[in-house]
Amino acid sequence: MFNIAIDGPSGAGKSTVARAAAKQLGFIYVDTGALYRAIGLFAVRAGADTKDAGQIVQLLDGIELSLKIEDGTQHVIMNGEDVSGLIRTPEISMAASDVSKVPEVRTFLLQLQRDIAAQNDCLMDGRDIATVILPDAQIKIFLTASAEVRAKRRYLELLEKGENVTYGEVLDDVNKRDYQDSHREIAPLKPSEQSVIVDTSDMSLEQSTEAVISIVREKYNK
Ligand code: DC
Repeated sequence: MFNIAIDGPSGAGKSTVARAAAKQLGFIYVDTGALYRAIGLFAVRAGADTKDAGQIVQLLDGIELSLKIEDGTQHVIMNGEDVSGLIRTPEISMAASDVSKVPEVRTFLLQLQRDIAAQNDCLMDGRDIATVILPDAQIKIFLTASAEVRAKRRYLELLEKGENVTYGEVLDDVNKRDYQDSHREIAPLKPSEQSVIVDTSDMSLEQSTEAVISIVREKYNK
């Protein structure tokens, strides 16, 4: 199978760019953040303290996760429930970042991600896809942008969804999550040695998508 790994911080346009590039290339798009978000949602619903690793580990036995692709759109199924529409709030973003620091959570999700990549030509987006999950991916891209640009993009996205937030809150959140994601001991957010770095700060989504596609086309012609 041909696997493309796209890693990078939140708000770099990763999911939009990855989804569009996958569609144009005829690859399945896999958004691995949704898996961490689903576990975050489960923990919040269970009333657990998401910063308490011990509590999170105890919950894992009660979680069954799978990904279903329908008409090119990924759905996250947790214990039989499609939770895709419930995992995009700021609360669940923070919970996802918390649970993603727990080594047992990362181990819990490892095989699921590798199985999908072994069975499909796919473009997988996350934080540690090139470094940990798919070290043999044929193409590795690190998509990034400045914290301010990323916060502005996320802020506009949340406003559009009717969320009641300020730009300052979103920027704070972005900085906090960046710090957490890149300083955790296990699988911290960083480019692999072979990753091509794409900085989208001054690029539109279309330009970013084009940049990704042209990197892929150099190695792969479908
Ligand atoms: O990409 P996202 O914003 O949906 O990710 C949610 C959280 O999950 C984010 O804080 C980082 C974490 N995550 C991770 O640790 N590893 C991944 N492969 C994907 C996401």
